[in-house]
Amino acid sequence: MLLPDRKEEATRDKRKYKTVKYNIDSKSKNKYKGKTFYLKTYGCQMNERDSETLVAMLKQLGFKEEKDYRKADFLLLNTCSIRENAHNKAFGMLGRFKHLKQTRPEIVIGLCGCMAQETSVCEELLKNYKFVNLVFGTHNLDKLPILVDKAFSSDERQIEVYSREQDLVEDLPVIRSNKYKAYVNIIYGCDKFCTYCIVPYTRGRERSRKKEDILNEIDELIKDGYKEVTLLGQNVNAYGKDLYDDYNLGDLLEEIAKKDIPRIRFMTSHPWDFNDKMIEVIGKYSNIMPSIHLPVQSGSSKVLKLMGRRYTRESYLELFNKIKEIVPGVAISTDIIVGFPGETEEDFEETMSLVEYCKYDNAFTFIFSERKGTPACKIEDNTTLEEKEERLQRLNEVVNEGFLKHNQELVGRVVKVMVEGVSEKKDMYYGYTETNKLINFTSNKELIGGDIVDVEVMDAKTWSLDGRSI
Ligand code: 5AD
Ligand code: SF4
Repeated sequence: MLLPDRKEEATRDKRKYKTVKYNIDSKSKNKYKGKTFYLKTYGCQMNERDSETLVAMLKQLGFKEEKDYRKADFLLLNTCSIRENAHNKAFGMLGRFKHLKQTRPEIVIGLCGCMAQETSVCEELLKNYKFVNLVFGTHNLDKLPILVDKAFSSDERQIEVYSREQDLVEDLPVIRSNKYKAYVNIIYGCDKFCTYCIVPYTRGRERSRKKEDILNEIDELIKDGYKEVTLLGQNVNAYGKDLYDDYNLGDLLEEIAKKDIPRIRFMTSHPWDFNDKMIEVIGKYSNIMPSIHLPVQSGSSKVLKLMGRRYTRESYLELFNKIKEIVPGVAISTDIIVGFPGETEEDFEETMSLVEYCKYDNAFTFIFSERKGTPACKIEDNTTLEEKEERLQRLNEVVNEGFLKHNQELVGRVVKVMVEGVSEKKDMYYGYTETNKLINFTSNKELIGGDIVDVEVMDAKTWSLDGRSI
């Protein structure tokens, strides 16, 4: 048994990480033929991407996917720790699995991902969730085949969570959930330690993949007919810092933009690591989508300081304006936390005025959620939950008005849309614009996924557009 240790997770290892190749023992291949697995994923795109690898590894072992958890032989939750509700959802699901285990004791139940990295979660699993057979963390995902084998062949619980990052593993198998759009990891972990955030503990230190490995993966995707890649990282703008003296996200984006790939996206950006070269490259290449997720978190410099965000309201706005000026037609989206400890009504008003100024194209808004062991837990908090909920509601009203306004501005205009498939709406297709807006549209031609077509916007709603292809 190997349990995580928060102190160790918080310390950063200065060594350079090696890159190793994934290898599966040939004896394990198809060993579990006839068995099925159920996998549920919570949280961000990084987890979704990890799950694409988990699925591929399980299929190499011979498992078949089963969408109904009640019928599966192996049940796995890939979990998220970012806020309490994600945490509660996973525990709720474990409750259902417990009932199932009573009638089908032979099933194997596993939990992996960010929650597995939390000491308190592992302790809770050990004490009160004895029916969970397998727990592994974010640093040993590649060991799934070995761990599953142990869990199926022994009655002993398998708990193997490392507190430290391991070497970077390349050549992991993947079964992508979309045929036209692919996620490509470029950097793992985060070194920013925003005071509310658990990610630097659960995902470890910033580790960039070698540029050759990223570029090769993209070449393969192009060969396989992919039309869009999204470069992923907790903070993609820190790409390269740990590996190269003079090669960053701007350079990587430029190299990818010269390839024959119609759409490039990237997320998430930390304002502190955004430099002029990156903005210039995003503005220069038409296949780098003019869509940037730039979390602000708060409009008050006082709160930003308490959050450890390393920028002020003024410096954020300076960056925001620069991006708007240099990248034609750019859509900027954001994340905002309300009710951070110490946030007064005046601080919140500053967030409201910033949002009114920025008129974001999209915004994800959250009430602050205390995460065990993060520095924000120690800040005095005098605001009640009712006040926080009321602030969230006021904020949502303003941001939603902004989304509708942006969408209405597009009515009558022609936008480029990548077709994703047939819409749930009768006789309509759906896809995303360059600025990542969902659009349902009619077409008098047969379209297939991955096609990029011109669509005239006919109508606007808060969350989507309607149109017709021309
Ligand atoms: N409470 C509320 N929201 C949080 N986020 C991260 N940690 C917390 C927390 N403890 C939000 C931030 C981040 C997004 C992914 O989740 O806004 O940008
Ligand atoms: Fe969390 Fe801040 Fe890192 Fe984003 S940049 S993952 S909010 S610590």
